Amino acid sequence: MNNEFLRTMSERRSVSTVDESAPGDDALRELLAAVVPVADHKGLRPWRLVVHRGDDRLRVGDALAQGDLKRSQEPEAKEVEHFRKKATRAPLLIAIIAERRSRKLPKWEQEAVASGAAHLLELALFAAGWGVMWRSGVGTETKAVRRLYGLEKRDRLLGWLYVGGIPERSDGRRTTKPKKRPDPAQFLSRLPAE
Ligand SMILES: Cc1cc2nc3c(=O)[nH]c(=O)nc-3n(C[C@H](O)[C@H](O)[C@H](O)COP(=O)(O)O)c2cc1C
Repeated sequence: MNNEFLRTMSERRSVSTVDESAPGDDALRELLAAVVPVADHKGLRPWRLVVHRGDDRLRVGDALAQGDLKRSQEPEAKEVEHFRKKATRAPLLIAIIAERRSRKLPKWEQEAVASGAAHLLELALFAAGWGVMWRSGVGTETKAVRRLYGLEKRDRLLGWLYVGGIPERSDGRRTTKPKKRPDPAQFLSRLPAE
């Protein structure tokens, strides 16, 4: 492919193991300029992001451990440790929240916009040389996690982008190479003949 932009898109892949480097807020804002033009029915901008760095990531782990337990109940220490470890797998976590802003437009359309923004951000981060993996899991729907982000009933947490540096191998080459992907032709079709 001789179009650089399309080649980057076709080579995007998730990077599950990242190092401790991460884009700062200024770099993030720059990348977001490539995300904000996401297709958006009625321009409702039905999404927001929450950035977690440092100890702020532990609050995600603690909320995941709390899950649907009552506020008066304490999660087991080993659960807390387990989820704190998960939440600190990357130096930067970006929570993606779909916020329903209109009753007139179907909810799925507004979630599709938020999801589109997350995909664009994942792609923009990858294009800028960062390792990214989108993770969700059943924990996104739990009471404690919803409370952490102050979600209303109509809102949905779509998961987190786990972001960090792509570790270099000892020979200096990147640890990631493009994945083998399905034949694109299989996604194109026409209506059956009448
Ligand atoms: C909404 C969403 C949620 C995801 N949640 C998880 C997850 O919790 N755990 C996981 O291993 N992969 C999850 N994935 C998949 C990975 O982000 C990744 O796309 C997948 O491993 C395929 O790798 P690739 O992106 O390199 O093709 C999720 C993807 C999306 C779009």
